[in-house]
Amino acid sequence: MKSNDYHTIKELQDIFIEHLNRQNFLSNPKELYEPIVYTMNIGGKRIRPVLLLMTCEIFGGDYRKALDSAVGLEVFHNFTLVHDDIMDNASIRRGQETVFKKWNANIGILSGDAMFAIAFDYMMRVDDKIIRKAIQLFDKTAIEVCEGQQLDLNFETSKHVSIADYFDMIRLKTGVLIAAALKMGAIIAEADDRQTEIIYDFGIHIGLTFQLIDDYLDLFSHDMKFGKARGGDILANKKTYLYIKGYELADAKEKAQLDALFANKEIAPRDKIEQVSAIWQSLGVPEAACEDIKQYHAKAMQLLDKLDVPKERISELRYYANELLERTY
Ligand code: IPE
Ligand code: IPE
Ligand code: MG
Ligand code: MG
Ligand code: MG
Repeated sequence: MKSNDYHTIKELQDIFIEHLNRQNFLSNPKELYEPIVYTMNIGGKRIRPVLLLMTCEIFGGDYRKALDSAVGLEVFHNFTLVHDDIMDNASIRRGQETVFKKWNANIGILSGDAMFAIAFDYMMRVDDKIIRKAIQLFDKTAIEVCEGQQLDLNFETSKHVSIADYFDMIRLKTGVLIAAALKMGAIIAEADDRQTEIIYDFGIHIGLTFQLIDDYLDLFSHDMKFGKARGGDILANKKTYLYIKGYELADAKEKAQLDALFANKEIAPRDKIEQVSAIWQSLGVPEAACEDIKQYHAKAMQLLDKLDVPKERISELRYYANELLERTY
């Protein structure tokens, strides 16, 4: 422990994991609960709970008052992944079989529903005087994530998705939950409204950058730690950053080639991924995406300067956010 006031990232990660391990998600009927235990136990970076605890301490709060909310947000995040994998037809997550592949879609739907309710229960475990604020934030966030996921699905079948549409979609599906983690920490610490809004805005920008990186890594990750099947976004016709950049950089001939590939229902999945990837690489899509990621990253970090707290208080957060946004797997 560095001081009585705040902990390092590593300490907060350990504190959170220890607290999470003390929870019992198993009950009857086991068909409902076993997939929950499985999902909660197969790892994950635990980004949102760590951000929540960290922000609570930045604003002078007691992390112990934030531990259950941190569990709640992590359970909620995991619920979104269980349903997301059904929607995206994804077979691998965190290097393991996804719930609907290991069991089936009905199990995934129902266990996911239970996880949402369990998350709600944890979110309520805060001081009475902030409970309304906390639940309102959680509820609003959950609805927005659904909106983002619906847009993501809508875009699979719409041909022209603008960059503005794309950013709107990822702000909702990914940005708001990361932002809510930070804001929840601030609410628990009873930070003032202005500081709380700044940290929320920072979270949105971290989330946007995080999703750009996720889109990039879906195809260009070279590390098993990424833990998802390569090229899944191409197979699901996702309007990712790479897809949009690809069309932006393509000439008429290359556009026609991409059109043909994305419309081709006969092509073997592996061939589709390789051929799209070859065109994108010849257009310089990965380099352009990395350049944009750098810019969004920088923009996110600038927002931290607006916070009115001592510099050393936010140094761990700055370090952690940089680490997240520089990941290459
Ligand atoms: C995955 O989130 C979903 C996205 C928002 C891209 P994470 O990358 O935080 O997933 P885990 O929890 O670490 O597996
Ligand atoms: C993540 O989008 C959004 C949510 C899970 C809410 P993705 O579909 O890109 O996430 P991964 O790549 O499957 O983790
Ligand atoms: Mg997915
Ligand atoms: Mg998805
Ligand atoms: Mg993805």
